[in-house]
Amino acid sequence: MRSSTGRWVSGNDFFGRDRELQVLEERVRDGNHVLLTGQRRMGKTSIARELGRRLKHEGWVFLFTDIEGATSAEDVVASIAEAVHPVRSISARFATGMRRWFSESVEEIGAHEFRVKIRAGLNEGSWRTFGETLFGECAAHDGPVMLVLDELPIFLKRMLGEPGGERRVDEFLSWLRGALQAVGDGSLSLIVSGSIGLRPLVQRLGIPDRINYLDAVRIGPWDRETSVDCFGRLAVSHDLRVEEGVAEAVYDSLGIGIPHQVQSFFARLRDFAVMRGRDCVTVADVGEVYQRNSWGLGARATSRTTRRASRTDWRTGITLSRWRSSPRQRRRTCSYQLPDTASDRCMPMCSTTCPAGSARPLKS
Ligand SMILES: Nc1ncnc2c1ncn2[C@@H]1O[C@H](COP(=O)(O)OP(=O)(O)OP(=O)(O)O)[C@@H](O)[C@H]1O
Ligand SMILES: [Mg+2]
Repeated sequence: MRSSTGRWVSGNDFFGRDRELQVLEERVRDGNHVLLTGQRRMGKTSIARELGRRLKHEGWVFLFTDIEGATSAEDVVASIAEAVHPVRSISARFATGMRRWFSESVEEIGAHEFRVKIRAGLNEGSWRTFGETLFGECAAHDGPVMLVLDELPIFLKRMLGEPGGERRVDEFLSWLRGALQAVGDGSLSLIVSGSIGLRPLVQRLGIPDRINYLDAVRIGPWDRETSVDCFGRLAVSHDLRVEEGVAEAVYDSLGIGIPHQVQSFFARLRDFAVMRGRDCVTVADVGEVYQRNSWGLGARATSRTTRRASRTDWRTGITLSRWRSSPRQRRRTCSYQLPDTASDRCMPMCSTTCPAGSARPLKS
């Protein structure tokens, strides 16, 4: 397992999330459309990509596009076309309807050029029809298709800030819903993912029904045991020896198992050891690395056996509260507030109540 401090992960680098994957997979296999939410850096992109990777082995077509940078519906349709490009049976059929935009065959141009040409031909009056054709070609494909639109809510929020934004958001969401329902035999499943809550956004606009066909799946932080196990796997993969209690100390310092933070803490500890010419890290090192990096977890860097406190992570927007410990039984109850997505359904695995001693000791 490689250490990753930013990019999404899949395959051998993807850790845990078995139950979440199972839930997501069942929804997709049943032909449902899913709204995948979770706070920043919780692993939304990774889980969607990992599911796509697994389904691809079974002959599914997996299409992924990140539309964070899109500014219009035309951009979104062009991005989906780019994702479709490598699937020749779909892209070639789609391209036959666009012959006036390019003379080359699909094989002769790369995915990016395909996108650029299609984008140049789309306008306010045509994106709906071409988008519907694209979905139709996907649904007509021999096998099932899973399409991921990552960061859709960021695109919508950007559009909202522009003149006529509310109308355009409404038009886009109405179109998406209608276009998917038009192909609706279950052969095309859409996953919409993002860390900004889509539900609060449509509620604010008074159009909650525009996304009522999306089934919400929320991913929360790893529990203590998973965080400790992941740290252990990383240590073994990188030949880093760790004193007993190090992985637990990492989790306790962070106070919550956000995958990105567990990974980042491991990377910093490894750097720390390398810079000192060591191949082993201790519990004392965890404290020092935590203090040096502070992880953005509020002003107060706390020790493992911390006092009652309330801290807000400015990067994730998560507030940790009711933080308590007793000499006999150390137990933390981290109730975390999810400001943007409070109304999204919370899955049972989101629980962060971690009884003392629930983690297995890590052998060094
Ligand atoms: N299942 C996992 N196994 C190992 N590491 C993971 C896993 N999921 C997430 N990570 C770690 O978290 C980081 C962020 O993952 P990812 O980009 O998938 O999260 P995200 O929720 O999509 O983030 P963003 O909100 O920024 O879009 C990865 O770089 C990796 O370090
Ligand atoms: Mg992401």
